[in-house]
Amino acid sequence: MTGRPLDALFAQLLHHHREPLQKGQSFGAPIVNTSIYHLPGAPEGPYQYGRYTNPTWEALEDALGLLEGAPAVVFPSGLAAVSAILCTQMQSGDRILVPADGYYAIRAFIETFLAPLGIVMETVPTAQYDARAYDGFRVVWFETPSNPGLAVCDLAREIPRARAAGALTVVDHTTATPLGLRPFAFGADFAVCSDTKAVSGHCDVLMGHVAARDPERLARIRTWRKLSGAIPGPFEAWLVLRGLETLEVRLARMSASAQIIAERLAAHQKVLSVTYPGLPSHPGHAIARDQMTSFGPVLGVTFASRDRAEAFIDGCSLLRAATSFGGVHSSAECRVRWGDAVAPGYVRLSVGIEPIEPLWAAMAASLAELPASP
Ligand SMILES: Cc1ncc(COP(=O)(O)O)c(C=O)c1O
Repeated sequence: MTGRPLDALFAQLLHHHREPLQKGQSFGAPIVNTSIYHLPGAPEGPYQYGRYTNPTWEALEDALGLLEGAPAVVFPSGLAAVSAILCTQMQSGDRILVPADGYYAIRAFIETFLAPLGIVMETVPTAQYDARAYDGFRVVWFETPSNPGLAVCDLAREIPRARAAGALTVVDHTTATPLGLRPFAFGADFAVCSDTKAVSGHCDVLMGHVAARDPERLARIRTWRKLSGAIPGPFEAWLVLRGLETLEVRLARMSASAQIIAERLAAHQKVLSVTYPGLPSHPGHAIARDQMTSFGPVLGVTFASRDRAEAFIDGCSLLRAATSFGGVHSSAECRVRWGDAVAPGYVRLSVGIEPIEPLWAAMAASLAELPASP
């Protein structure tokens, strides 16, 4: 793992300001709630209209850009960030390769809105990218670890292959967070993330961002935001910025707890199996160990049936039944309820920042209430 060099980066992020602080200036970025700016004469300068630019977005973008190692543009949700890439980097007749086991809404967006415009989608399971040729694809989309199955893709191997074939490469690192996985270290063209999850961390806001190395490509993304009107609110941007400041400590706690819980659940007789990149039993463990700075908060727990899985979630006093992950409160859900191609008893479990022993005690108590395994 390559965690230590990021310490300096995160320390810098906490103290970053575009301009040197003036005496009496607040440390935190102000929430600039405005649709208009003083704009006499020619419409010039950085601030012209609220849909074009906003100082609170910019403060968040500065922080995310530092973290990613490439400039970032924020959007009002992860899907808005995803669709900004899809709608600006492809045209009719282009082919895109996406993970068959990644977040379903990305495939649904392409199928519903882009396929009728002549964009051709092909899919491949995350663990099988290495067997796939990339010739003729305009975009190769990676999501690692994938949501919800937590399969791992070897970016150091696959991104250069895709770029050599002439494709643009996009990495969705939502489950890992931009701190846990750094797409630009592997040569990606774009990173995209739902900041609704661990980046903001408190389940009180939706947000997303795109980062890109090429200024022209990012300018096109920014123009998309301006012309499509998919803009975040300044208060929401501020909430994400505030959450981001504690990402490093939250992620360290959540990942350490997730590892312990994964090990204990895997050893429990009422659990069929556990999927977590931090477990040596995970097929992508060695790759994850090399390419991630932490294994993240999300694990998959498989029970013998959906009923048992639901009973485990409902019976655990420290688990919130909810469809999200990466928050400070542990949460879980059966993904089959959304139609994902997972076992009926597969639970996506997100470990929060609760101290580990009370959290484990609550899970163990719920497991104890389940009838003996069939
Ligand atoms: C991997 C991944 N990408 C994108 C998204 C979309 O994010 P949002 O819900 O913020 O639109 C999600 C949401 O769960 C996700 O898991």
